[in-house]
Amino acid sequence: MKVALSILTVDYKNVENDLKDIINDVDYIHLDVMDGNFVPNISFGPAFIKSIRSISDKIFDTHLMILNPFDYIKRFAEAGSDYITFHVEAKSNIMDTIKLIHDCGCKAGLAINPDTEVSKIEKYLPYLDMVLVMSVYPGFGGQSFMPNSIDKVSKLKSIRDEKNYKYLINIDGGIKDTTAPLIKDYVDMAVVGSFICNASDKVLNLEKIHKI
Ligand code: DX5
Ligand code: ZN
Repeated sequence: MKVALSILTVDYKNVENDLKDIINDVDYIHLDVMDGNFVPNISFGPAFIKSIRSISDKIFDTHLMILNPFDYIKRFAEAGSDYITFHVEAKSNIMDTIKLIHDCGCKAGLAINPDTEVSKIEKYLPYLDMVLVMSVYPGFGGQSFMPNSIDKVSKLKSIRDEKNYKYLINIDGGIKDTTAPLIKDYVDMAVVGSFICNASDKVLNLEKIHKI
């Protein structure tokens, strides 16, 4: 299980320094973009992502929690995203948005909220590079893991095995040392935010996840 580090709760003016002890030991940098519309919170946009692109050559995994992702794909691609994930519950046309992400040279991910079933995205699975299962309601870091996400990642793994699809299975929200064991057999990667970034010893908590 690879680690996608969510930097939602770091000190934005000091990102490089804040992450210096752990950034080389994570696989992805997970960038939570919130528009105050799709979710009740506002975070950052493409200018911020561009401004931190040079701090690391790790994979930039951009998670768009915005109402109209199609309209902003090009800007997030130009900012330096490698993966761009948007929500099936957003307003944009799904296939058009997947195609646009690919046309911009990025990998495409589709996310599902806790109340959305895997069946809702089944027809898009052949075209995806990543599926992101939300294990909290999106909008804030530091929430508790929702166990109904376990069945979803397990189902996504079965479908992938059966149909030979290529998407990575990712999970986002409330992942820490006590919840990672519940999903580790089904996912390729997990987003970890506050468990690492808000820890007094970030290195230790990242190690705990790597051990699992
Ligand atoms: C929630 C975000 C998550 C979140 C992860 O809306 O998508 O990426 O910041 O943070 P933790 O690990 O604290 O749940
Ligand atoms: Zn996220």
